[in-house]
Amino acid sequence: MQCKFIFASIVLLVGHVHSFPWDIVVSSGKQLEFYFSGTLTHTEIIPSAHEIHSVTYDPVQYRVLFVNRNTDNLIYSFDISTKKTQHLITRTWDRHYLRVVYDPVTQALYWRAGGGIYTYSLNPAASNKEVDGKLLIPLDHIAMDLAVDSCGRYIYWITDKNIERARLDGSEREVLIDYAVYERRSLAIDQKTQKIYWTERHSISDNQAYIESANFNGKNRTTLYIVRDDTMVNSLAVTKDAIYWHNYYQGGIWQLSKNQKPLQATKLYSLSTTACGACQQIAANYTLKEQTEGIKSCDALRGLIPNDSKSTSTVSICQYYCFQGECSVSAEGRPTCSCKAGYSGERCEVNCHDYCLHGAVCSLNEENKRVCQCTSGYEGDRCDVSICKDYCFQGNCSVAAEGQPKCSCEPGHSGKRCEVSACKNHCLNNGVCSLNEDGEPVCECTSGYEGERCDVSICKDYCLQGNCSLDAVGLPKCSCLIGYSGVRCEVNACHEYCLNGGVCSLNEEDEPSCQCTADYDGVRCEVSAYKDNSCEAGSTGEGKVSACHQFCLNDGVCSLNEASEPVCQCTADYAGDRCDIPAFMAKWVLHAYKDVAPVTRSDAVKSTCASTVV
Ligand SMILES: *[C@@H]1O[C@H](CO)[C@@H](O)[C@H](O)[C@H]1NC(C)=O
Ligand SMILES: *[C@@H]1O[C@H](CO)[C@@H](O)[C@H](O)[C@H]1NC(C)=O
Ligand SMILES: *[C@@H]1O[C@H](CO)[C@@H](O)[C@H](O)[C@H]1NC(C)=O
Ligand SMILES: *[C@@H]1O[C@H](CO)[C@@H](O)[C@H](O)[C@H]1NC(C)=O
Ligand SMILES: *[C@@H]1O[C@H](CO)[C@@H](O)[C@H](O)[C@H]1NC(C)=O
Repeated sequence: MQCKFIFASIVLLVGHVHSFPWDIVVSSGKQLEFYFSGTLTHTEIIPSAHEIHSVTYDPVQYRVLFVNRNTDNLIYSFDISTKKTQHLITRTWDRHYLRVVYDPVTQALYWRAGGGIYTYSLNPAASNKEVDGKLLIPLDHIAMDLAVDSCGRYIYWITDKNIERARLDGSEREVLIDYAVYERRSLAIDQKTQKIYWTERHSISDNQAYIESANFNGKNRTTLYIVRDDTMVNSLAVTKDAIYWHNYYQGGIWQLSKNQKPLQATKLYSLSTTACGACQQIAANYTLKEQTEGIKSCDALRGLIPNDSKSTSTVSICQYYCFQGECSVSAEGRPTCSCKAGYSGERCEVNCHDYCLHGAVCSLNEENKRVCQCTSGYEGDRCDVSICKDYCFQGNCSVAAEGQPKCSCEPGHSGKRCEVSACKNHCLNNGVCSLNEDGEPVCECTSGYEGERCDVSICKDYCLQGNCSLDAVGLPKCSCLIGYSGVRCEVNACHEYCLNGGVCSLNEEDEPSCQCTADYDGVRCEVSAYKDNSCEAGSTGEGKVSACHQFCLNDGVCSLNEASEPVCQCTADYAGDRCDIPAFMAKWVLHAYKDVAPVTRSDAVKSTCASTVV
């Protein structure tokens, strides 16, 4: 009982939402206009539309499929039962206007864009690899219109050059009508008459358009009607009894009865022509039952006819409702979809599958555009850009737990983005920095500097007593203070000059001179200045007098040997222990006295005292 009640309310709802009758729908600028029996019964303004310029009708799901041309070309559906608009396909094709047609049997969309004819399946079971459709039939000439034969399983298209068809998988392509004309604009197909219909214009000066028909195989071409004084027959549609077209210059929809003889066209509706001429397209309410009645080859299509008579018990409002998801009926009797992963939208019609990358969640925004919510580590419209891209300057990037990029820097680099080199500010005084294998900074110094960071001037502490400067090749050079010499001014003229504690200083001519202690004199304080006072007092003075005292004669220089005995260094003119023998005599004298004991120190002192005192 409960079940029956629910179904009953659903049927009521379905009956209710078929709120307006229509036989022709027209795309007109930003809106769809529905006409019935000579009057406008419904206007649907598509909020995001820029210019709707192709319509087709899906008699299974009671929806109008249309192309909204704006910055992208978008394929939408308008559900006549629910009055809901849904976005189906996005693609940035070329802007040339295109047509969309539909095969209810496989739920496949076909449309024409720059490169040819594309297809995309709205069937939940289909695996659409290309989110925005796949190129089915490449074309050299622009196809101005398409038509699907859902019973014979063909797609037809017209160009100015010819009329062709191919299987719905793109195979068995064949030319049906092979004469070229100035222009072919519209194409329609009718299962009932087993004919294709099209319009053509033969030359630019020809002020009329022809409505033609032929069998599905292109045979028995017949001119059905000549539209005089109007060259722009934009769009053709057929129903059980009539052929309809939109006439731009005459501003309306015309009807030609299929059966009446002679064929006579009548103007059905007048339309405003504010919309762009070529984009006022029409589709007709041609029910599946009417299309397929008595046509043997149409079993598959016929099988899709909703079982209206039994609908109170068998047709669920959920049937055909969700594109890619499970349908359930809400407490208010509305169908509700729970979408398969990768799909979204009220009817799971938005194929986010493969659109958002790297595990991002796809959803629809208010303008029916797909929006990706990226997983951590990715950004960009489709989450296709790693946040690591170009992030680390000198290092590897990884995504941290908080979703932020994190750099692990190569040796010698640091900073959040490895943007700081260890070389930065490392070498001083214009030294050139490079990193070694371990990432350590190494300096190559300019001339005049040394040290790990070129921080040490090579002049520093170089000149001991003088100013330092660099020579032509960058080596240090000293200019010494007065009194100093040597490469590093390390040599003082006073150096070891004064003996016996004498203090050295430089005179005005920079010559060293000694100031001796009281005990010495002589130029270098080499002479003992000891005065033997005891000697003056008649004493021998033994033991108190320097052994050198007045020991060497004739300017001989006296020094004490290891035994504290005086030893003389004579000038060139004298010889002998005390330099007392003129050099020229030394040979003989020394020889003659060689056996005589030398004068001892005490003898010398005694003799000196004696001579002084006496
Ligand atoms: C579509 O056409 C059929 C047959 O002519 C008609 O019964 C039906 O009411 C029409 N649908 C609408 C919504 O007007
Ligand atoms: C050719 O088409 C015309 C007009 O539709 C029709 O009257 C005629 O029977 C057709 N002939 C053949 C052989 O199909
Ligand atoms: C309508 O009913 C027939 C026979 O019961 C069945 O074969 C067909 O699939 C049904 N069609 C739909 C659309 O449910
Ligand atoms: C960066 O990655 C490469 C390749 O995985 C690896 O060889 C290298 O050692 C890594 N460097 C750092 C600094 O982690
Ligand atoms: C060393 O430099 C100082 C300061 O420039 C200068 O006054 C002095 O004359 C210089 N001395 C020598 C030996 O060049």
